[in-house]
Amino acid sequence: MREDLSPLFASFTCGSLKIPNRFVMSPMTRKFSPDGVPGDDVAAYYKRRALAKVGLIITEGVGVDHPSAVGHGSMGEENIPVMHGEAALAGWRAVVEEVHAAGGKIIPQLWHMGGIRQEGTPPHPSAKSMRPNDMSEADIADIIEAFIRSAVNAKTIGFDGIALHGGHGYLIDSFLWSGTNQRDDMWGGDIERRSRFAVELVKALRAAVGPGFPILFRISQWKLQDYEAKLAETEADLALIVGALAAAGVDIFDVSTRVFSLPAFAGSDLGLAGWIRKLSGKPTMTVGSIGFDKELAASFAQPTSAIDNLGEVLRRFNAGEYDLVALGRALLMDSAWVLKVQIGRDFEPFDVTAYGRLD
Ligand SMILES: Cc1cc2nc3c(=O)[nH]c(=O)nc-3n(C[C@H](O)[C@H](O)[C@H](O)COP(=O)(O)O)c2cc1C
Repeated sequence: MREDLSPLFASFTCGSLKIPNRFVMSPMTRKFSPDGVPGDDVAAYYKRRALAKVGLIITEGVGVDHPSAVGHGSMGEENIPVMHGEAALAGWRAVVEEVHAAGGKIIPQLWHMGGIRQEGTPPHPSAKSMRPNDMSEADIADIIEAFIRSAVNAKTIGFDGIALHGGHGYLIDSFLWSGTNQRDDMWGGDIERRSRFAVELVKALRAAVGPGFPILFRISQWKLQDYEAKLAETEADLALIVGALAAAGVDIFDVSTRVFSLPAFAGSDLGLAGWIRKLSGKPTMTVGSIGFDKELAASFAQPTSAIDNLGEVLRRFNAGEYDLVALGRALLMDSAWVLKVQIGRDFEPFDVTAYGRLD
């Protein structure tokens, strides 16, 4: 028999955001927005999850208002939506209205791919890709402005907050990580200086959106270039990064791990979300292999099964490791996953072809 999962169905409030339960849809790139414009199919896709009791939806990564923001990346991304221009904003407004009408909440993940964007790829092939080592002061200022414009657009059309993609080796993370930031000025060097771009960005965004409008920040140890990479080798290093970001205005840390239940540092069972909650004093969201026996990368190549590991999710939640529980593949493959948890039904089987569909 399933354990009492009612703690996961308690409401959660953060500033102006109130959600009815703790289940969140993790950001997932879908590549279904030609010319950067999300259409009716994208709205229907998110609405289905809102109708089926997903407490909060974080959208796929959405390009910020700069020519270098998105292009082809590790998976040859095309048709990635953006958060600027009349057509894209009208498309997003319809998405927000549909999700709200279905009783849901929705926050866009603002994305700049940095050096992971392949040079010369659309939608702006002539833009140079941004890598911390060769960015000028003007580049840095321009990108911060681009995030601000996009965040203000998101707020204006009715989104319930903003989420920053600060993980996986993309632009923000590439400043944080020593493997991609060898600057020796105020934007690089020790951890405090490597954190400066993220901190200044969050401060600027907080000033632009005002108090009470939630800012989520995705953070990860792992990078697309290197799954074994560590942003923070020690708890003390992690404390410096998340402490500075919390002071700058982050409300919730979206802690991206590949397996949510793995200890983050030797000598303790605490997962990364638990550490960040403890070190930052801010709410955290966990993610990674909830509902599956294999993590994302392995699931492309190895037989993978849907499983019920909610007992471990609940145990760590009750121990105070995190406030929110995010689902990636589970909600891609089974839009009714949260509803099925609530009413005690079996989940859909694992289906790798779902990565390429929008249903
Ligand atoms: C098809 C697909 C696209 C993804 N795109 C993004 C993205 O745009 N931004 C992001 O931060 N993570 C992205 N992710 C990672 C997920 O948000 C999530 O962290 C990961 O799938 C692990 O969770 P899971 O084990 O529940 O699937 C993507 C994952 C999948 C499967």
